Amino acid sequence: MKFLICYFSGTGNTKKIVDKYKEELELKKVEVDTKKIEEELNFDINEYDVLMIAYPVHAFNAPSIVLDFAKKLSKTEKQKRLIIIKTSGEPLALNNISSQKLVKILKKKNYILTNEYHYVMPYNIIFRHSDNMAYKMWNTAQNVIPIDCKEILKNKENKLKKVFMGNVLLWLFQIEHWGGRFNGKRYKVNEKCIKCQKCVRNCPTNNIKIENGEFKFGKNCLMCMRCSFLCPTNSIKIGLFEKWKVNGEYNFDNYNENEEQNHKKYCKKSYNKYFKRCEDKIKKDKEVI
Ligand SMILES: Cc1cc2nc3c(=O)[nH]c(=O)nc-3n(C[C@H](O)[C@H](O)[C@H](O)COP(=O)(O)O)c2cc1C
Repeated sequence: MKFLICYFSGTGNTKKIVDKYKEELELKKVEVDTKKIEEELNFDINEYDVLMIAYPVHAFNAPSIVLDFAKKLSKTEKQKRLIIIKTSGEPLALNNISSQKLVKILKKKNYILTNEYHYVMPYNIIFRHSDNMAYKMWNTAQNVIPIDCKEILKNKENKLKKVFMGNVLLWLFQIEHWGGRFNGKRYKVNEKCIKCQKCVRNCPTNNIKIENGEFKFGKNCLMCMRCSFLCPTNSIKIGLFEKWKVNGEYNFDNYNENEEQNHKKYCKKSYNKYFKRCEDKIKKDKEVI
């Protein structure tokens, strides 16, 4: 059995999840290739039994780079199993609609959705989760992924709940489509910049250039936040969304008992429900063993 995981990850959360999937599937003797969607993609899909696509939810949608990848993907000779993995900053069911368009595009090419999984990871925009919350989210995902892999390998289907009026909502929230053209060009670099050019090198669409010593942001921004999130001097202003900017990588590895949780009340019920659902799944899996 050979799996291909094609993924896009703006700031690393989705990549962490993909790496865990690869590790877990390989432990179960499955061959796994991973490919970054932003790179030149040269592969023969007919060599694989299963296609997995992983992405971060952007305004309840899949990032446009992921949809463009799906449009370019060749039709398969035989029906192929499709598995979708998404990460998002909050556990709202509305995030479920993000894969609707992707599934539709791929169905026409013979890729049939059998399993879909959603992992909550810390926000890279809106507000900074505490490192404790990041630790808890990552720890939860690490414990749940082995169970989800077992389900996949047993050919047991798993689909996320449909959302009422999903298509209309999807259309309304296409933030990236105008965001790239309109907001992306409004990005600015301030005087703290040390011209390390990490943002230039890292941008998935090569949208950042330096011309005559000045940073120029083009119209192909994906709003993935990689440039501003990873900027070592927090020098990039992200236009209309500046107040929601999050800068600096999370510490996923240490639990700090003294750290205060940010925005304690924000979507509290949904987060609690998500963690409870995951705990129940882990407990049930242990009982079966
Ligand atoms: C432009 C943008 C829009 C986002 N929209 C949503 C959203 O609608 N729902 C949500 O829960 N998280 C949203 N997020 C948060 C990301 O989905 C989340 O932090 C994700 O894990 C980031 O993954 P990455 O590090 O692989 O890019 C958004 C992030 C960005 C940058």
